Amino acid sequence: MKTGLRQTGIEGGKAKAERSADLRKTTRPRWSLPMLLYEALYQVSVKTKLFDDPIFSLYKYMFSPNQLIFLTRCLAETRDIPGCCVEVGCSKGRTTAFLRKFMDENGIAKDYYAIDTFSGFVAEHVNHEVEHRDKDRNLATYFSLNKRKWFDYSLQISGIESVRSVEIDATKFDFDRIAPISFALLDVDLYIPMTDVLPKVYHNLSTGGVILVDDCAEDQKWDGSFAAYTEFVARNGLKREIVLEKLGIIRK
Ligand SMILES: C[S@@+](CC[C@H](N)C(=O)[O-])C[C@H]1O[C@@H](n2cnc3c(N)ncnc32)[C@H](O)[C@@H]1O
Repeated sequence: MKTGLRQTGIEGGKAKAERSADLRKTTRPRWSLPMLLYEALYQVSVKTKLFDDPIFSLYKYMFSPNQLIFLTRCLAETRDIPGCCVEVGCSKGRTTAFLRKFMDENGIAKDYYAIDTFSGFVAEHVNHEVEHRDKDRNLATYFSLNKRKWFDYSLQISGIESVRSVEIDATKFDFDRIAPISFALLDVDLYIPMTDVLPKVYHNLSTGGVILVDDCAEDQKWDGSFAAYTEFVARNGLKREIVLEKLGIIRK
């Protein structure tokens, strides 16, 4: 029987325990204190589920594989369009890291701006969702456990150095400062910030550039984005194009 395969039900409990003990004796390297602590954390979590999300959860992207691939296609399509890339609402930086690595791997040498409050939603934007859009007040807690220095540190230890993080309420950010823009991913979820940011980004978008608006889907917590997108394309006579369940596209 091959070692390393799951053998539940094939081998008796005692024999299995003996084999595991033998294996540990023969294969365990000399572990440092941090490694032992790490192992303890894993063991504790398996029993208590306490750290399951940070330790064991494997897929932490907020986009599906097809959506991520689509984002990379848009980056590749706009590689020769003048301008920077901007992600408005970047949270912990997972998509930022993925897209920036894709750019580096493919020689897309553009500035990448990552804009966020790094402390979640702005109170008055949440109030609007609660008072006028029938949403739950606990929205206020989402994404609030974050810090810009954690974001920068995460990118740094992932070997990514060329992202410019900006800590600000995006509605207060001067997008003229980073113009022109060739690629924008707008992911701020709520109606007010999306409504505010969309025209500013579009104004600075190069011809041939693309804006992707996340959460363009009905009947969900984040449909403020969808409302803002729908209104913006209608008001400006632009094509309404939503792909892969929730990605609203705006081209110039
Ligand atoms: C869904 S998360 C972004 C996810 C990220 N794009 C990713 O793919 O991992 C939404 C982010 O928008 C940020 N955000 C919401 N309102 C904002 C505002 N007015 N200004 C700046 N950031 C904002 C939140 O702090 C949160 O980190």
